[in-house]
Amino acid sequence: MRIVLFTGKGGVGKTTAAAGTATLAARDGARTLVLSTDAAHSLGDAFDVPIGSEPTEVAPRLFVQQVDAQRRFERSWADIQGYLLSVLDAAGVDPITAEELTVIPGAEEVLALLELRAQVMSGEWDVVVVDCAPTAETLRLLALPEALGWYMDRVFPAQHRVVKALRPVLAKAAGVPMPQDTVFDAIERLHRDLDEVRQLLTGPDASVRLVLTPETVVVAEARRSLTNLSLFGYRVDGVVANRVFPDEGADPWRAQWVQAQKVVLAEVEQSFGGLPVWRSAYRPGEPVGVEELADFASAAYAGDDPLARAAGDGPMSITRTPSGAILRIALPFADKSDIDLARHGDELVVTVGSYRRILTLPAALMRHTVAGARVEGGALQVRFRAGSPEGDDG
Ligand SMILES: Nc1ncnc2c1ncn2[C@@H]1O[C@H](COP(=O)(O)OP(=O)(O)O)[C@@H](O)[C@H]1O
Ligand SMILES: [Mg+2]
Repeated sequence: MRIVLFTGKGGVGKTTAAAGTATLAARDGARTLVLSTDAAHSLGDAFDVPIGSEPTEVAPRLFVQQVDAQRRFERSWADIQGYLLSVLDAAGVDPITAEELTVIPGAEEVLALLELRAQVMSGEWDVVVVDCAPTAETLRLLALPEALGWYMDRVFPAQHRVVKALRPVLAKAAGVPMPQDTVFDAIERLHRDLDEVRQLLTGPDASVRLVLTPETVVVAEARRSLTNLSLFGYRVDGVVANRVFPDEGADPWRAQWVQAQKVVLAEVEQSFGGLPVWRSAYRPGEPVGVEELADFASAAYAGDDPLARAAGDGPMSITRTPSGAILRIALPFADKSDIDLARHGDELVVTVGSYRRILTLPAALMRHTVAGARVEGGALQVRFRAGSPEGDDG
């Protein structure tokens, strides 16, 4: 089972790259689903066939699906979301909690993740390719399972226990709205499912590919997403540089573009060092339909296995040292001044710019103190010393 996600700025070729990759996978014998979580549904246009919210077969072994926000689901999610907000508000939440709240996104994102999970777990597919929304929304989507999980672990068990015993009394005394057991059950199920999604998407079988065009602003955004995807534990295993102008027979207008792109492409090769950069030419027409998409993808991968797994153990690792351990989180391109680190009990709060991850420390590190931290070689390294936390937070 292999999961490949494509993201990048709007219009760079995410849908085309996702559809092309899926087409190659299916031709190679894999039962393949390509699924879009982007509200701007263009998979149908790419394959030039009408498709719906159920997998539609467009070629042998190749199925296409667009996740559609369903009204009914939206309503129940709104209930859960409203309830969480009111509980936290009534409980006078602490600052970290309040900030984390902004991460709770809307129904479509949750629905997309649940559909993705259902398809991955169905056992019907060898390969699931995900055509994601533009970068910022994708990050919201991918940060969600953990953000929500964090609430659930913290706010929820206590609530539920208390509610069961004291529902009538507490509702009056604390002014906290008391939900029915069915709401708790629904939330708990949602929590479990989203946690599974997170495990699937940060596991060794899943990876994210960044699609970009050789333009300075686009590359800048791709670099930021690499940082943030790593922050949340996702493996990025390649870059698709799309719409590269072929340089033969250039008139002055094109010659200038070719030159400008060359400069940016050199920067891409250098800055995404270590990741394969698959180049794809600006074609004389839109790559539409199975044949053209397969063509587009074979040219881009140029003989590389489009489904190769990312090497290494992902963006986070823990190494034992004589005095304790070092936790390493890859944060390529992140500026030291943008990174902030704090420890709260068993949690490590890592902030990079406007993104924040609350990491529950692995059991092995819980009884260690933070002895120091530094940013080196594109990674945050947090040094832990064995021994109980006696006040200071390095
Ligand atoms: N290399 C290319 N050459 C020519 N047209 C392309 C190329 N890549 C993408 N396109 C076209 O550009 C448009 C946007 O591509 P799309 O894959 O839908 O981008 P995104 O999903 O990132 O918004 C589509 O019409 C697509 O057919
Ligand atoms: Mg698209």
